[in-house]
Amino acid sequence: MTIREIAKEYHQNVIGLRRNFHKSPEASLNEYNTSEMIKEELNKLGIECRTVANTGIIAEIKGKNSGKTVALRADIDALSVTELNQCEFKSQNEGLMHACGHDCHISMLLGAAMVLNDIKDNLNGTVRLIFQPAEEVAKGAKMMIEAGALEGVDGIFGMHVWSDIECGSVSVQEGPLMASSDLFTIKVTGKGGHGSAPHQGVDAVLVSSAIVMNLQSIVSRELDPLQPAVVSVGSLSAGSRFNVIASEGILTGTTRCFNPEIRAKFPKMLKRVVEDTASTFRAEAVLEYSHGTSVVINNKECSDLAKDSLQKIGAKSIVIEKIMGGEDFAEYLDKVPGVLALVGVRNEDKNACYPQHHPNYTVDEEALEIGSALYAQYAQDFLNK
Ligand code: NI
Repeated sequence: MTIREIAKEYHQNVIGLRRNFHKSPEASLNEYNTSEMIKEELNKLGIECRTVANTGIIAEIKGKNSGKTVALRADIDALSVTELNQCEFKSQNEGLMHACGHDCHISMLLGAAMVLNDIKDNLNGTVRLIFQPAEEVAKGAKMMIEAGALEGVDGIFGMHVWSDIECGSVSVQEGPLMASSDLFTIKVTGKGGHGSAPHQGVDAVLVSSAIVMNLQSIVSRELDPLQPAVVSVGSLSAGSRFNVIASEGILTGTTRCFNPEIRAKFPKMLKRVVEDTASTFRAEAVLEYSHGTSVVINNKECSDLAKDSLQKIGAKSIVIEKIMGGEDFAEYLDKVPGVLALVGVRNEDKNACYPQHHPNYTVDEEALEIGSALYAQYAQDFLNK
C-alpha cells in the first residue's frame, strides 16, 4: 500500500478528530484540554510522548533501522474569534475559535502518526512529532526549542492550511515564504498645558502624528523598493480632552519583511526617526522594539524533496505569492533545514472561501487526507533518502 492509500483508510478518523478539536478551541498558552486529547490519541497508538512547556507535546516514532531524525510540527492554539458557522461541531468555547485551522494541523499530524506507526518497519531513523502551543502569540516555537524539541533533529517539516489555495494544491516552494513579524511601542513625552496657549507646552499629539508620518519614509525612501517591507502604526493614543495640550502619547506598531538583513536594521532606523522627530518638536520619545518571529525561509533541498513527496501522494505542487503574515515555524528553520508547506483548503462549493481568522472560516476536509499523507510521505522520504 502507498502512504496515500493508508492515509485514506484513516481519513474518516482524522475528520472526526478535527471536528472534536474544532469544538473545543483554547487560547494560546492555555491549551490544556487540547493537549490531553492529543496525548490520549497518541496513547491509543502506543506512541510514547512527553509534555513540555505546559501544553506542548513531543512524541517519537522509531523506525526499525537507525538513521536520521526528522521533526514534524503542528501548532495547536486557537484565536479570540466568535464563530459564526452553524455546523454541528461549532466552537463550544464562547469567544474562541479555531479560525486559523490549527485544529486541522493537530488532526493531520495525528493522522500521519497513524500512518507512520503502521510503516515504522520501513523507516530508517526516528520521526519526532512536535505539538506546539502558542503560535498565535509567537511564543510557542521558542518554548518548544528551549524544551529540547530540536535536539538531535536533522530536518523539520511543518504545515499550514491556507484559504487562498484550492484544495488539492500545496505550496512547498523554496526561499522566503512568510515575513518576519516584529512589534514596537513608542512613548512620547511632551509637556501639558492649556489648549489656548500651545507655546507654553510641548504638544504630544502633534509629535505623535509627526512620528507616524515620518516612519512612513523608512519604507518609501530608505529601503530598496525591490525589497518588500512594511512599517505599520496600528494604534495611537494621546490627549484627554479638547482644550488640553497632551503631555503624553503612546503608539504601537509592527514591521514586516522577507530579508533578514533589513529585519536586523529596523530597530536602528525606527529609533533614529522616532528620537529625531521628537527632538525637532522639543519632545522626547523612546522606542521599545521587540522581536516576534523571523522570516520563514524554506530550504532548497528540503523543498525539492517535498515536491517529490507531493508527487508521490498525488497532490499538485504550486508556487504562490509570498505572504506578509508571520509564522513562528521560522524559529525552527533558523536552527535546522526544513520546509513549511501551505496546504490548500479552499472550496467555494463547501463554503470554504473565507480568509484565515474570519469568523466564518472553514476548510474542505478532503485536504486533511492530503496533509496526513504529506507529513508521513515527507518523513519517510527524508529518512530513507
Ligand atoms: Ni495559523
